Amino acid sequence: METTLMILKPDAAERNLVGSILARIEASGLKIARLEMIRLTPERARKFYHVHEGKPFIDDLVAYMSRGTVVVGALEGEDAITRWRELMGATNPANAAPGTIRKDFAVDIQTNTVHGSDSPASAAEEIPYFFPKPL
Ligand code: CDP
Ligand code: MG
Repeated sequence: METTLMILKPDAAERNLVGSILARIEASGLKIARLEMIRLTPERARKFYHVHEGKPFIDDLVAYMSRGTVVVGALEGEDAITRWRELMGATNPANAAPGTIRKDFAVDIQTNTVHGSDSPASAAEEIPYFFPKPL
């Protein structure tokens, strides 16, 4: 059993895609264990993406992530980290496999609609960043 962090980025709620994306998650068999709608401050978005500090896209990424409502959640299941990344598709929608969320919904390599932890170590850091206390 594994848990991973999901974020539906601001373009998801902006384009009324929240329900469609959550439906794909549930149809895959992953369990939505936690779910919340919040607005990130630029500071909180920058801290979340600290591994990308110094990269050319970080300022635009922070502006994007803090421009509107995001949905943060924890997804649970066997191999949840890999399964959620597979449902998401590649970072750049141009390279994403058919049927993935990013292939179907992402605008471009930055505005790519969803986030998922990329390893057990990142999940262990990212889940408590948004869900520090148990239900
Ligand atoms: O989200 P993922 O783990 O697939 O990709 P990442 O390499 O960890 O990058 C984090 C986020 O930065 C991406 O999801 C994009 O929103 C953004 N990004 C960008 O704006 N320009 C790039 N060249 C690469 C990533
Ligand atoms: Mg990443």
